[in-house]
Amino acid sequence: MKIVAYFVIFLGCVSGIAMAEIPISNATKECVDCHSSFHPGIVEDWKNSRHTLFSPGTSMKNKGAARKISAVSVPNNLANTAVGCAECHTLNAESHADTFNHNGYKVHVVVTPKDCSTCHTEESAQFEQNLMSRAYGNLASNNVYQDLQRGVLGEMVRKDNKILYYPPNESTAGESCYYCHGTKIEVKGLQKRETLVGTMEFPKLSGWPNGGVGRINPDGSKGSCSACHTRHSFSIEMARKPHTCKECHTGPDVPSYKVYSASKHGTIYDTMNSEWDFRTVPWTIGKDFAAPTCAACHVSLLTNPEGDVVAKRTHRMNDRLSWRIFGLFYAHPRPKSPDTSIIRNKDGLPLPTDFDGGFASEFLITENEQKARAQTMQAICLSCHAKAWVDGHRQRYENTIRQSNASIAVATGMMNDIWKKGFAKGIRQGESMFDEAIERKWCDTWLFYGNTIRFASAMSGGGDYGVFADGRYQLTQSIAEMQDWLNLRLQLFSGREAVNDNGKFKMQSAK
Ligand code: HEC
Ligand code: HEC
Ligand code: HEC
Ligand code: HEC
Ligand code: HEC
Ligand code: HEC
Ligand code: HEC
Ligand code: HEC
Repeated sequence: MKIVAYFVIFLGCVSGIAMAEIPISNATKECVDCHSSFHPGIVEDWKNSRHTLFSPGTSMKNKGAARKISAVSVPNNLANTAVGCAECHTLNAESHADTFNHNGYKVHVVVTPKDCSTCHTEESAQFEQNLMSRAYGNLASNNVYQDLQRGVLGEMVRKDNKILYYPPNESTAGESCYYCHGTKIEVKGLQKRETLVGTMEFPKLSGWPNGGVGRINPDGSKGSCSACHTRHSFSIEMARKPHTCKECHTGPDVPSYKVYSASKHGTIYDTMNSEWDFRTVPWTIGKDFAAPTCAACHVSLLTNPEGDVVAKRTHRMNDRLSWRIFGLFYAHPRPKSPDTSIIRNKDGLPLPTDFDGGFASEFLITENEQKARAQTMQAICLSCHAKAWVDGHRQRYENTIRQSNASIAVATGMMNDIWKKGFAKGIRQGESMFDEAIERKWCDTWLFYGNTIRFASAMSGGGDYGVFADGRYQLTQSIAEMQDWLNLRLQLFSGREAVNDNGKFKMQSAK
C-alpha cells in the first residue's frame, strides 16, 4: 500500500469550486515542501492548475466530451492522487537520458509528450502526426533549407571581395530558427551546483532552454506540449487564445497572427473576449464565444447550442487544411506525411514544388482529400455565416493561390535566367541559392510577399496585409526591380556566354 498524504489546496481561481481536498502522493509532498521555498512561482502555478483538481481515477469516470483523459486506463499508482511534481518528473525514468538522482528520486527535467501520453494518449498520438512535432527535422534534415539557414544565420567572413558563410554556432541557432522549430536536447554529462540545501548534481543539457514545437527530447520523443500549454498551469484557456500562437506564427514569412488581428474576427475577439468562456468543454459556438480564434478554426472541439458536434478536436492540426500556403517556393497541396524531409521534386531536390511551379504530387494530398478538408473547415464557418458568404470567400482564396503562384513563377523564372547566365551563382553552379543580394530579392517575393497575400486571403485579414503591408504592392515592385537588375547586366555583358552552367542542379555540399 502506498502512503498517501492529504494536502489542502485552495482553488479560488478555478471557476465553480471554492475548495477541494485532493490526496497527493508522498513523493510529491516532498518535492512541494522543498520547492515551495526555491520555486514559489512553479508551485503556486501548479496549485492553480487542473492537475490538482481531479485525480486521473476521478477524471476517468467522466463520460463524453467532459472527459479530459483520453487514456484507456491509467496505471494504478497514478490513479488516486493529484498529478503532482513526482507524477510528471519521475514518469518513464528509464527512457530519459536526462534522469538524475535527486533527494532519493529519479527525476528528469524535460517532461515530454511521451510522458503526457500516459494520461493524454489521443492528443499525443495526434500531435505526432502534426507538422509541428517534426519541425526540427523538417529544417535540420533538408539541405535546401539548411542552405537558407546558413545564408541567414551563418557567420559572415569577407575575403577577396566575397562574403563567405560559416555554419552558425549552437547558441545562435538555439535562439533563432530553433527557438520556434525546437532544438535537439542532449545530455552532456552531470554538473555540480551549490544550492541552499547543499551541493547537488544536475544534468548538463545542450539546446536548453527550449520550448520549440518540434524539439527532440532526451527520451527520443518529438515536440513540446508546453509550447501551447505552458508549465505549470497547463491551461486550456491559454491554448484557445490567439496570443499563444502569436509567439511563432507572426510573420512576415508566417503572418497568421498579424492578419488575424487585423481581421473582423480578430477585432471582435479583441473587443469582446472578456465576456467569453474559454474554459468550458466542449466549446459552444455562439454561447461561449462569438467569433473564432486560431484554436476554434484549427483545433477545438466545437458544438452548437443543441450539443451537436460541428468539429471534432484535433491535435493533428492539418485535418481542416487543404493547401500549404507557406510557399516552398509555391503554395501546394498539403504534404501527406508530417516528415517533409522525405519529399523529392522532379529535379530530385527536397522541395514540394519544382522551380517552374509543378507539384511533387506523389508526396502531397489528392484533390479529393483537399476538398474533404476544406469542407471540414467550412462546416465551422457555416455556424455563423450563410453559404454564399463562405463559398465567396473560398472562391477568392483559390483565386489568390493561383494568382500568387503565377507571380512567383515570373520571379523564379527570372532568377533561373540569372543563374543560367552566371550573373549570380546558385543551385546550377553547386553554390548557395540564398546568399547574394539578388537571390534575397527573389526570396522576398515568395517567402514574404507571396505568403502574406495568401495568409491574408485565407484568414480574412484582407486589408493592408494583402496589399501594402508586405502584400501585392511589394511583390510587384520586387519583380520589377529584378527585371531592371537583369536588363542592366544583359546590356553590360551582351554576347557573353553562360558561365559554369551544365544545365543540371546540384546542391552545395554542407560545410
Ligand atoms: C531537499 C529539497 C528538495 C527536494 C526534496 C526536491 N528538490 Fe528539486 N531541487 C531542489 C533544489 C535546491 C534545486 C536547484 C535549484 C537551483 O537551480 O538552484 C532543485 C532542482 C530541481 C529541478 C531542476 C533541475 C535542473 O536541471 O535545474 C527539478 C526538475 C526538480 N528539482 C524536481 C524535483 C522533484 C520532481 C522532486 C520530488 C520528487 C524534487 N525536486 C525534490 C531541491 C529539492
Ligand atoms: C503535468 C506535468 C507536470 C507537473 C505536475 C509538474 N511539472 Fe514541472 N515541468 C513540466 C514541464 C512540461 C516542464 C517544462 C520543461 C519542458 O519544456 O519540458 C517542467 C519544468 C519544471 C522545472 C524546470 C523549470 C525551469 O524553468 O527551469 C522545474 C524546476 C519543475 N518543473 C519542477 C516542478 C515542481 C516542483 C512541480 C510540483 C509543484 C512540478 N514541476 C510539477 C511538467 C510538470
Ligand atoms: C498521470 C496523468 C496525467 C499526466 C501524466 C498528465 N496529465 Fe494533464 N490532466 C490530467 C488530469 C487528471 C487532468 C484534469 C482532468 C479533469 O479536469 O477532469 C488533466 C488536465 C489537463 C489539461 C486540461 C486543462 C484545462 O484547463 O482544462 C491539459 C491541457 C493537460 N492536462 C495537459 C497535460 C500535459 C501537457 C501533460 C504533460 C506535460 C500532462 N497533462 C500530463 C492527468 C494527467
Ligand atoms: C518565430 C518562429 C519561427 C522562426 C524564428 C523560424 N521559423 Fe520557420 N516556421 C515557422 C512556422 C510557424 C512555420 C510554419 C509556417 C506555416 O505553415 O504557416 C515554419 C516553417 C518553416 C519551413 C517549412 C518546413 C516544412 O517543410 O514544413 C521552413 C523551411 C522554415 N520554417 C525555415 C526556417 C529557417 C531557415 C529559419 C531561421 C532562419 C526559421 N524557419 C525560423 C516559425 C518560425
Ligand atoms: C513554439 C512555436 C509555435 C507555437 C507556439 C505554435 N506553433 Fe504552429 N507551427 C510552428 C512551426 C515551426 C510549424 C511548422 C513546422 C514545419 O513546417 O515543419 C507550425 C505549424 C502549424 C500548423 C500546420 C500543421 C500541420 O500539421 O500541417 C498549424 C495549423 C499551426 N501551426 C497552428 C498553430 C496554432 C493554432 C497555434 C496556437 C494554438 C500554434 N500553431 C502555436 C510553431 C509554433
Ligand atoms: C499548437 C498548440 C498546442 C500544442 C503544441 C498542444 N496542444 Fe493541447 N490543446 C491546444 C488547444 C488549442 C486546445 C483546446 C482544444 C479545444 O478547445 O477543444 C488543447 C486542448 C488540450 C487538452 C484539453 C482536453 C480537454 O478535454 O479539455 C489536453 C488534455 C491537451 N490539449 C493535451 C496536449 C498534449 C498532451 C500535448 C502534447 C502532446 C498538447 N496538448 C500539445 C493546443 C495545443
Ligand atoms: C476563420 C477561421 C480561421 C481563423 C480564426 C484562423 N485561421 Fe488559420 N487558416 C484558416 C483557413 C481557411 C486556412 C486555409 C485552409 C486551406 O488551405 O484549406 C488557414 C491556414 C492556416 C495555416 C496553414 C498555413 C500554411 O502554410 O499552409 C496556419 C499555420 C494557420 N492558419 C494558423 C492560424 C493562426 C496561428 C491563427 C490565429 C492567429 C489562425 N490561423 C486563425 C482559417 C482560420
Ligand atoms: C463564431 C462565429 C464565426 C465563425 C465560426 C466564423 N466567422 Fe467569420 N465573422 C463572424 C462575425 C460575427 C463577423 C463580422 C460580420 C460583420 O461585419 O458584421 C465575421 C466576418 C467575416 C468576414 C468579413 C471580413 C470583412 O470585414 O470583410 C469574412 C470574410 C469571414 N467572416 C469569413 C469566415 C470564414 C471563411 C470562416 C470559416 C473558416 C468564418 N468566417 C468563421 C463570425 C464568425
